[in-house]
Amino acid sequence: MTTVYLNGEFVPKERATISVEDRGFIFGDGIYEVVRVIDGRIFEWGAHAARFARGIAGIRIAFEAPAIDALKGVCERLVADKGLADGEATVYMQVSRGAAPRTHHFPPSGTRPTVYASASRFVVPRDQRESGVRAITFPDFRWLRCDLKTVNLLGAVLARQAAVEAGAYEAVLLRDGIVTEGAATNAFAVVDGVLRTHPLGNLILPGITRQVIVELMNENGITFVEKGVTQGELLRATELFVCGTTSDVNPVISLDGKPVGAGTPGPVTRRLQTLLESRMYAAVGAGR
Ligand code: PDD
Repeated sequence: MTTVYLNGEFVPKERATISVEDRGFIFGDGIYEVVRVIDGRIFEWGAHAARFARGIAGIRIAFEAPAIDALKGVCERLVADKGLADGEATVYMQVSRGAAPRTHHFPPSGTRPTVYASASRFVVPRDQRESGVRAITFPDFRWLRCDLKTVNLLGAVLARQAAVEAGAYEAVLLRDGIVTEGAATNAFAVVDGVLRTHPLGNLILPGITRQVIVELMNENGITFVEKGVTQGELLRATELFVCGTTSDVNPVISLDGKPVGAGTPGPVTRRLQTLLESRMYAAVGAGR
């Protein structure tokens, strides 16, 4: 039996129901987070909570920081109750603007946000991390507030589906001829010997894994430039990787059917993979 959290209660998944008028359902009017849990401890909770708070405030849902802080205990309990405190797991959390008769504008003040969370087992696909993955390029036709992690994910859904249909793991998104990010990852490339990634702003999600990688690069004297890679530069990139909570540092070895660099994970990607792993597993003292 799976227990999930819904509006203050821990209930069996089968009994967790929301209104058909929920604005998350009707409008995609909500914000979500996905956290990684290693041996019962949440990796980078503070950074995820801060982004969650910023997104919720960004779409003006009345759900304040203390309520977000309280979700940490909810995540930990979901993980423990489901027997996931050993090994790895993810927790999905979502806050929507609640249920109310359909109007585009906000519902009456006092409408309670719908708060949902559930935990799942996560098994790291180590072979994939080792050998790398394929990716495709795909147009970035998402809206202009990609910095908000909203549940309105159609741009990502269609991009990922195109990737899957092409036998690839990820879609690298191009807006006006510039790589923004992956459908559900941030993207880095080595072009002419320089590691590059798109700057923060409204066109990409400020990924927590990206943030950790930036910290690691600064700590270890690895230079990088926050400047979007053009489509032309992408063609001559010698390394490409995507990163995210469930992707870690994932080498991309082929793009649109052509090898990236030598067609094997490159040295910068490998170094960052190792650094991220030591940070993730050191944080929980597991040392794997
Ligand atoms: N996706 N960019 C986009 C568009 C994303 O959806 C994600 C995460 C990232 C990476 O962010 P982070 O490092 O904080 O996971 C970048 C999550 C995991 C998802 O939608 O499931």
